[in-house]
Amino acid sequence: MNIFEELGEKESVFKCKKYLDHRFLPENLPHRDEQIKSVAKYWIEALSNVTPPDVTIYGKTGTGKTAVAKFARKQLEQVARDKNVNVRVEYIRCTDYTTEYQVIARLCQQMGQDVPYRGWTKGEVIQAFRNLFKKNVFGKNLILIIVLDEIDILLKNDGDGLLYTLTRTENVSIASISNYVEFKQFIKPRVKSSLRDREIVFPPYNAHQLVDILNERVQMSFKDKALQKEVIPLCAAMAAREEGDARYALDLLRTSGELANEKGTEMVYENYVREAKDQIEHNKVTDIVMTLPSQQKKVLESLLYLTNRKEEITSGRLYDIYKEITKGDSVSYRRIFDFINELEMLGLISTKTVSRGRGKGRTNIIDLQCDTQLLEDAMWQ
Ligand SMILES: Nc1ncnc2c1ncn2[C@@H]1O[C@H](COP(=O)(O)OP(=O)(O)O)[C@@H](O)[C@H]1O
Ligand SMILES: [Mg+2]
Repeated sequence: MNIFEELGEKESVFKCKKYLDHRFLPENLPHRDEQIKSVAKYWIEALSNVTPPDVTIYGKTGTGKTAVAKFARKQLEQVARDKNVNVRVEYIRCTDYTTEYQVIARLCQQMGQDVPYRGWTKGEVIQAFRNLFKKNVFGKNLILIIVLDEIDILLKNDGDGLLYTLTRTENVSIASISNYVEFKQFIKPRVKSSLRDREIVFPPYNAHQLVDILNERVQMSFKDKALQKEVIPLCAAMAAREEGDARYALDLLRTSGELANEKGTEMVYENYVREAKDQIEHNKVTDIVMTLPSQQKKVLESLLYLTNRKEEITSGRLYDIYKEITKGDSVSYRRIFDFINELEMLGLISTKTVSRGRGKGRTNIIDLQCDTQLLEDAMWQ
């Protein structure tokens, strides 16, 4: 028998698994009415051919920022089409297009202008983008809303030139989305002042809200009565503890279902959720560690060393250990700071600044945010 047919014949707890995929955009976003309305309140101006104010959307991972932006985009485009108003919303994920050049080239491409991803000067690319408005390629008075999702790392690595350029392009409104409230530190005053900026905050979901979100998905994706009744509340509770992350809640649910299929049970049991948690954590840590550059791994190694010794980890102490481990083949203290930032963005560590009392200044304290055993396994495998 063909392997695919054989596998296809196996019983599954899923009815339609694609509804548990990250890329699926639900019709309905429970507990995000307020945030959707906030975005709409600003964007609605586009329908009267006025450039909407810029918005910044903040919130921790999995609080629905991307989903809300895409939802609002869909709704706005629908009305704009019906009313025959010239509005476009372009979505860019800045982890895929990581410099000003790339983002603007991508925007041109999405709008039908063929611009190469390398080879031109930045000035040429910007000109091509501005020409899209000048030549009235899109008819009169195009209003363009640009969603810059996950903008943090771009700003940090490439500076605020992108925002500078876009805020100086007429008829463009920017919606930047960030997981970190502090991301504005990367924007210089000259740009800050021209961002006509409204802030929308996405709070973490609590366990009850996550239950509602999961319930809707379960109906679409799992067969009837495939879940033991504790499964949804448990996924929700665990994800609420992980800073109200809906993506994590959905991952737990999907992985638990996959475990049921692997084990060949007709039902997803409560203990599968706990197993799923370990599996997800394990995969996350291994994925991150596997792709880290070697100097970054040395930093993690130093962190592990200090954590195992139960020492309080300051960046200075970390750098000392790091230098010992690398035996001269080390990068500057400044670079270590960048590494620490990146590890924090990846969720492997957390940092907090503490004051040492008058005259002693402030110190950064670093904490590992994952299981040390898991991390060790991932490092040495
Ligand atoms: N209120 C909600 N209702 C239904 N699904 C949601 C809701 N909020 C988030 N999700 C889902 O959770 C996952 C993470 O949401 P996402 O918008 O990507 O979060 P963020 O961009 O804030 O990290 C996505 O699969 C999304 O569809
Ligand atoms: Mg997102």
